[in-house]
Amino acid sequence: MTNDKHQTLETYPLHEVIAVCGAVGGAGRTSVTVNLAASLAKKKRRIRIVDGDLQFGDTALALDLQPSLTVKDIAEREDEKNVHDYWTVHESGIELLAAPHRPEHADLMTADRFGSLIESLQISSDILVVDAETGLTERSLQVMEKADRILLVTTPRMAALKHTRLMAETLQVLDLKHKVDLIVNQFTADSVMKAKEMTELTGVENVHFLPYDYKRMPKSLDVGIPLVESNPKLSFSIEIGKLAEELFPNLQNTREKQSAVNKMMNRLKGSRGNRHEFISKTSIKDSRRS
Ligand SMILES: Nc1ncnc2c1ncn2[C@@H]1O[C@H](COP(=O)(O)OP(=O)(O)OP(=O)(O)O)[C@@H](O)[C@H]1O
Ligand SMILES: [Mg+2]
Repeated sequence: MTNDKHQTLETYPLHEVIAVCGAVGGAGRTSVTVNLAASLAKKKRRIRIVDGDLQFGDTALALDLQPSLTVKDIAEREDEKNVHDYWTVHESGIELLAAPHRPEHADLMTADRFGSLIESLQISSDILVVDAETGLTERSLQVMEKADRILLVTTPRMAALKHTRLMAETLQVLDLKHKVDLIVNQFTADSVMKAKEMTELTGVENVHFLPYDYKRMPKSLDVGIPLVESNPKLSFSIEIGKLAEELFPNLQNTREKQSAVNKMMNRLKGSRGNRHEFISKTSIKDSRRS
């Protein structure tokens, strides 16, 4: 299934993969995944979610989608080359590749195949957000290896922070830690562990905080509408917006810059051929960072 909504958008892919990971379950990976994607979808980019929690993934529920095709079907049919037939499209334009309906189907997709799938999707996506499995499994490590950024989601509770530190240390050994940002979700002013202690406690330098909202967050997952859509003025939604901005600071500017580039390329078209031949992923990333 393709998403017609994007046909009028700029076709200038960013190719960014964001892995949403966590050492412990229930910290908020799915909440961060769907809200970050919904926030980025407002920027009119091709935003995709892959539910990498292949046993108990629930991003489809969190978006109130009923996928007929999932990762299981790709795995069973060995149909990775036609992965674009397996998207379920959300009204915001987000495209979701859903987790299998049943946990026993998770292992149909091996870690290596899953890694290759992420790699091939990266090529055609602006931003691919992967809701990864809890902890350091073979599949979650594949996702982290392919990712440009790893969001390590934790709560401010001591046990979660301790396990998050262990995970960060392992990522250091695997030479992946430079990609890690810490997301302290469900944070409150009266949390025993204070904001300024988070780096010391986990060993991660880049820290973002998302507030605890005991009323609206669980409800938002239950009704399947991301908070950034239903309650954009809530502090959780505002903080997600800031996170999106920090991760992709020049998204808007890139599009503006892009128009200038497009104008120039249109002038050159015909004599130089396809613009993608001389605008590489690296140069796009460099221009966004400059
Ligand atoms: N900022 C928040 N404030 C209040 N509750 C939250 C917040 N973030 C998540 N929750 C709640 O915590 C629970 C777990 O959230 P979520 O499903 O996003 O976590 P997860 O890490 O994906 O869990 P799992 O390991 O089961 O996949 C849900 O009930 C959700 O509503
Ligand atoms: Mg989850």
